[in-house]
Amino acid sequence: MAEDQTALRVVLLGPPGAGKGTQARLLAEDFHLLHLSTGDILREEVAKETALGKEAKGYMDKGELVPDSLIVAMIEERIGEGKQGFLLDGFPRTVGQAEALERALQRRSLSLNACLLFEIDDEEVVMRLSGRRVCSKNPSHIYHLQFDPPKRPEVCDQDGAPLRQREDDREETIRRRLEVYHQQTEPLISFYEERGILRRYNASRSVEELHNLIRADLAALRLEGELAAGA
Ligand code: AP5
Repeated sequence: MAEDQTALRVVLLGPPGAGKGTQARLLAEDFHLLHLSTGDILREEVAKETALGKEAKGYMDKGELVPDSLIVAMIEERIGEGKQGFLLDGFPRTVGQAEALERALQRRSLSLNACLLFEIDDEEVVMRLSGRRVCSKNPSHIYHLQFDPPKRPEVCDQDGAPLRQREDDREETIRRRLEVYHQQTEPLISFYEERGILRRYNASRSVEELHNLIRADLAALRLEGELAAGA
């Protein structure tokens, strides 16, 4: 398969609570991209009590990473589905996962266009995640008690379902997730820097400001691809 230069294939990298999921949802809509969140896929497997979900739950509740072998297969089978490209949110998270992704794309004669790095202080992460509430019916409806409160307390604006706090959003688990990020995921910054596709963003900006910045950058990237393809 020849590389489609007009498609956007993008990785969102950053600590838990940096706002990757919030931005991924907005950008997927802007550019008609497939949004693949490994966290959301795993939580669905946990809710359905599948074999994968049962295995993953123990790791997730403690704030540890689920083993690469389970995650890589889960993503590989989905990346072909986005015709106009994809946004990977929460994957890769280890150098092993990044190498496996690179091999999977190479087999399809594809490559990534960009890795967007969300930079934010640990203490701001703790504040964001301890105030996060998600819809109990559709966990992609995300709120924050202070920064993005629902209109009615503890009720989802979009479907009226009660809001809940994620299991792993307790302070002790948030701090463990941050440690895991610094140890196992941060090495990906130099991995993607070496490949010349890393773009850094100050993720403590407001949702709207950050969205405008990234949207403009991705629009420019897509245009470059279209010009290169002579579209
Ligand atoms: P996952 O679900 O991927 O969690 P995470 O990376 O820890 O990311 P979060 O969803 O917590 O944060 P986010 O950056 O998306 O922030 P959000 O937009 O929600 O993973 C969970 C677990 O699954 C892992 O711990 C691991 O066990 C397992 N797992 C997943 N992927 C794996 C992999 N590849 N390998 C191995 N294991 C894996 O925003 C957070 C809050 O802040 C919200 O309340 C939001 O409203 C608010 N907010 C967002 N943006 C702003 C802003 N600009 N200003 C103010 N508030 C904001």
